[in-house]
Amino acid sequence: MKRLINVAVLVSGGGTNLQAIIDYAAEGNLKSGNLVKVISSKEGAYALERAKSVDVKTAVVTRKGKTQEEFESGLIKELEECNAEVIVLAGFMCILSKDFTDRYKDRIINVHPSLIPSFCGEGFYGLKVHEAALAYGVKVTGATVHFVNEIPDGGKIIMQRAVKIKENDTPEALQKRVMEQAEWKILPTSLEQVCKSLLKGE
Ligand code: GAR
Repeated sequence: MKRLINVAVLVSGGGTNLQAIIDYAAEGNLKSGNLVKVISSKEGAYALERAKSVDVKTAVVTRKGKTQEEFESGLIKELEECNAEVIVLAGFMCILSKDFTDRYKDRIINVHPSLIPSFCGEGFYGLKVHEAALAYGVKVTGATVHFVNEIPDGGKIIMQRAVKIKENDTPEALQKRVMEQAEWKILPTSLEQVCKSLLKGE
């Protein structure tokens, strides 16, 4: 059987980006990777239901009341248990330390809902990113998939896709369009690209 890269997805919320990966895999397009576990930083996140519905293992590792080190050792335990080789941050709302990102160097990818280097870094997450884009008055925004290093949203860019801003756009409408037109497309394809290139390097 063809060797596949073990992929774990880290989530904190609804998990529509996780769903995009699940659908991409179901369509037979994730040819170099296999989704082995979904880990949520939030108890009861809907993303966990999405994973369970396709029989993917789930775990919850919360951040609250823990040191960064304790939180990350909880994550590492779950990742090692399933031999994760690539980690996808799909709406994962926790910052990771240099120790963690070094451990999985060039093996963690994140989707961010803007064209980095605009509207990114600490404090820019979820709807806030779209509010900032509209407040600034940019005419084009989009999404970026990048490798994760110790600088929030600072790692090497893998893929970007632009989305036009409409007149009278709201943060919610823009968020939905950026997801549909950009995030849900470039995240799964970037994941396949990263897994494929890891296999090629073996
Ligand atoms: C997505 O728009 C994702 O790009 C963003 O949160 C949303 C999660 O939605 N992530 C960040 O802002 C990270 N900085 P989802 O749970 O439905 O995939």
